[in-house]
Amino acid sequence: MEIVKLKGYEEMSQKSSELVIKTIQEIDNPVLGLATGSTPEGMYGELIKAYRKNNVSFQNVTTFNLDEYVGLSGEDSNSYRYYMNEKLFHAVDIPIEHAHVPNGDTKTPEKECAEYEKLIRDVGYADLQILGIGLNGHIGFNEPGTSFDSKTHTIELDESTRQANARFFNSLEEVPTQAITMGIDTIMKSNKILLLVSGEKKAEAVQKLVQGEITEEFPASILQQHTNVVIIGDEAALSKL
Ligand code: GLP
Repeated sequence: MEIVKLKGYEEMSQKSSELVIKTIQEIDNPVLGLATGSTPEGMYGELIKAYRKNNVSFQNVTTFNLDEYVGLSGEDSNSYRYYMNEKLFHAVDIPIEHAHVPNGDTKTPEKECAEYEKLIRDVGYADLQILGIGLNGHIGFNEPGTSFDSKTHTIELDESTRQANARFFNSLEEVPTQAITMGIDTIMKSNKILLLVSGEKKAEAVQKLVQGEITEEFPASILQQHTNVVIIGDEAALSKL
């Protein structure tokens, strides 16, 4: 694992956007795996700035987001589709039909999962997969206990995850109980993984991810077995290494 320690959130966002741009420029029809949450917001902002300066175009880019809440439509401001549209897709030149997010607003989530996995397989696994990490070690929405062999699947969200994400909703009750997420195996098939971490509250999770036992009880620990992982973090998040 390559670990890049930077001063703060802005530096992390800047550096990670440079890596994304490099991938887009080096590969003909790049596939990006994308994450939501607070951590990558700054990076998306930097990508928009670079696009406006004509430093990058998303015209040949295909994206697959990691996850989506079950039960929320893309118009719901708490859905990850809405987040992506607002924070990146609508501000750059990506053809929107190339910007994939699982459809959480479906009566047949199992079918949606199988189709999403097939689409990723057909288009190609990510050249660069962006990841964040949950305090309990989840990547995407792969909660502790998820099989390392998992493909895109539905998952019951941990109470701790619902509480952590309740800040975006009016109340804890409004946070969905289920999500669709790329599986661990889907993520591990990416060519390169870029994990972003910021803030002291992530320090313990980062330490477990890098130095802890590889176990399904801490999903992110599997990244120790991937041959091309870069962690870009600020001093606070990397303070326990
Ligand atoms: C969320 C998302 C993850 C994200 C993580 C951390 O639940 N499903 O993809 O990486 O939690 O989020 P944040 O960056 O807001 O700490």
